[in-house]
Amino acid sequence: MARVEAEVGKPKGGLMNWIDARFPFTKTMKYHVTEYYASKNLNIWYVFGVLSFVVLIIQIVTGIFLTMNYKPSATEAFASVEYIMRDVEWGWLIRYMHSTGASFFFVVVYLHMFRAMLYGSYQKPRELIWIIGMLILLVLMAEAFAGYLLPWGQMSYWGAQVIISLFGAIPVVGDGLVEYIRGDYSISDITLNRFFALHVIALPLALVGLVFVHIVALHEVGSNNPDGVEIKQKKDENGVPLDGVAFHPYHTSKDLVAIIIFLMVFSAVVFFAPEMGGFFLEHANFDPANPGVTPEHIAPVWYFTPYYAILRAVPDKFWGFFLFGVSVILPMFLPWLDRCRVRSIRYRGWMYKTALTLFVISFVLLGWLGLQPAEGIYVTLTRIATVVYFAFFLLMPYYTSIDKTKPVPERVIYNA
Ligand code: HEM
Repeated sequence: MARVEAEVGKPKGGLMNWIDARFPFTKTMKYHVTEYYASKNLNIWYVFGVLSFVVLIIQIVTGIFLTMNYKPSATEAFASVEYIMRDVEWGWLIRYMHSTGASFFFVVVYLHMFRAMLYGSYQKPRELIWIIGMLILLVLMAEAFAGYLLPWGQMSYWGAQVIISLFGAIPVVGDGLVEYIRGDYSISDITLNRFFALHVIALPLALVGLVFVHIVALHEVGSNNPDGVEIKQKKDENGVPLDGVAFHPYHTSKDLVAIIIFLMVFSAVVFFAPEMGGFFLEHANFDPANPGVTPEHIAPVWYFTPYYAILRAVPDKFWGFFLFGVSVILPMFLPWLDRCRVRSIRYRGWMYKTALTLFVISFVLLGWLGLQPAEGIYVTLTRIATVVYFAFFLLMPYYTSIDKTKPVPERVIYNA
């Protein structure tokens, strides 16, 4: 004991010293919190990372309580959710928090990603933060998809049926793969069981692990900022970036305001509009799964509809599936598709600004079109929006290399 204390060279006694001699607590807190310097001009776009974290915690905690009363079996699942809603004390609150949390997760993550596109946060040296982020997004999609089967309603069943059978479009291995995913010849109790296992343990573990490395990678290179200026290039005599302020208390206090406002909005939805007019909880899912009756319109939840629209834009099954897959993966290559040396939209030229605006319009439009029937004018619009979506990425090396940019300041712009 004495030897360990002597090692850290601090006076005997004190719980912190005791811990620090055995675990790098103070060192870690300094490195990641009290002496982690992020630019002083971070704006509202920078709160969505922390908010994603808040939603992750809400989902894990409410998920644990739901699992205590949920039954992962085709004969009991639907009724067990009804039981949670009607008989379990506060069960309705826990379930609505979880279902609303799923949609809010995508809201904050999509906004978080958009911020990176506004300020070029995926550019060197932050490529890995972005790639890990994209992996988080893929796991999040798998998590939401698996979770949606669990209530065993009509849309759970038929949504899973449609999406899983898409893999059948892959040549040679497709049919085998579909059977492998389902674990049966159709969506069944076996499928429900494995989706439950993935949803409650495998995917959340992956998610938490990825979020951890996301933050480690971020803290290695440091946060970007709305000016896209590398603050580490101008430091004072103590090695502290001149434009940086400590994460705690300066950013944590701002983040706390954002968390409180977020929780107010979140509560308003949970208490007053948990179904969100069928966007967050689809109406067809209030009927138990019935393999014999197909719902009139099968549409995934809103956060998947942009990709679902792209899938339906192409009449050929294979090419539809191919474009669908590529549309999800393509953003991963942004760090290499973007050839502009300027990060922030503040100093970029009109080309990138126009391209980004068109991209956002196409993404939102695709999201809406994915909820409409695949016929007439909707199909035409979907095809146009799909072309715009892909053009944003595929033409990027060209327009970002010829775009006329403005000079980037040496220090960040900050008006207190
Ligand atoms: C569970 C999901 C996620 C969590 C909890 C999370 C958390 C965070 C946090 C706390 C930050 C620092 C604060 C901030 O810059 O907002 C951050 C930064 C960042 N995240 Fe995420 N993130 C998630 C998903 C994603 C996704 C899906 C992407 C992109 C595909 C992404 C890309 C980035 C980038 C590029 C940065 C650096 C931004 C900058 O410094 O300007 N993250 N993330």
